Amino acid sequence: MAGGCAFDGPMSTLVARSDLNRSILSVYSIITWACAIIAVVVSVVLGIILLRFRERPGADGLPRQVLGHTALELAWTVAPALVLLVIAIPTIQVVFRTQGAAAPPNALQVTVRAWQWWWEFRYPDLDVVTANELHLPVGRPVIFTLDGPDVIHSFWVPQLGGKRDVVPGRLNRITLTPERAGEYWGQCAEFCGASHANMGLRVIVEEPAAFDRWVAAQAAPPPEPEGPAAEGKAIYTRSACVGCHTIRGVSAGVLGPDLTHFGSRTLFGAGLWPTDPEHLVPWLKDPPALKPGAKMPNLGLTDAEAGALAAYLMSLE
Ligand code: CUA
Repeated sequence: MAGGCAFDGPMSTLVARSDLNRSILSVYSIITWACAIIAVVVSVVLGIILLRFRERPGADGLPRQVLGHTALELAWTVAPALVLLVIAIPTIQVVFRTQGAAAPPNALQVTVRAWQWWWEFRYPDLDVVTANELHLPVGRPVIFTLDGPDVIHSFWVPQLGGKRDVVPGRLNRITLTPERAGEYWGQCAEFCGASHANMGLRVIVEEPAAFDRWVAAQAAPPPEPEGPAAEGKAIYTRSACVGCHTIRGVSAGVLGPDLTHFGSRTLFGAGLWPTDPEHLVPWLKDPPALKPGAKMPNLGLTDAEAGALAAYLMSLE
């Protein structure tokens, strides 16, 4: 994710695509200007002092020493306090404005559960569960409830604002409104183990009509597979897969991503690979070899079995 450093890269914090990120950038700009003004003032005063009090020929001994000058002492105590005040007021305002309590009643509810090493997104009011790829309608406020089942992770989608920790046993919240349709990249921003760097996510912000179509498709039962995909389904149902994954109407595991509409996602493995058979087959055959620490074990599948399973997963659109 080297794009994090680019000014307008996919993970730039300087390209605001939500009200939250605009608020953060306004605080950022206040701090930048305050620092620039302080830098100029300090440089000018330093220059004057260096010129005015330089050592001159013929001068002997130390110049007059200034100790306990009340006006000076007051000045360099009060000035930094004022600078801190100027920075603190807008910062605290933004912090409060983006908490859960600030969400309007029509806000879209999304529960974010961070697992080692993938993201689960639940839309409790819409009966939709997905993983690693989040869809949001443009212009509607969203309230994210961050719920951590295992270790501490941090939910961060730079262009939409953040970051905020996902902590076991504590519910953090973020309220924001996406302001422009597009695809935004996110990344876990708190070290969480071997595959911390492999814990990406993608947010697709789309027009409300497109979002409604997506919700309808996600809430529908998965299509019944045919051909090689049907064979893949048979392998799935008799394998350990069912203990960890949910495919609605087929299995009800809760430790791994919900796969009910796996084929509709553009990437899998928490943003690592495009959803296609070329990437899926090697993954199904040996997950920990491709993603360090992955909890999904090598089930000893043959090429043919992994191929059929991939066809089944791809059919779950
Ligand atoms: Cu999850 Cu780092």
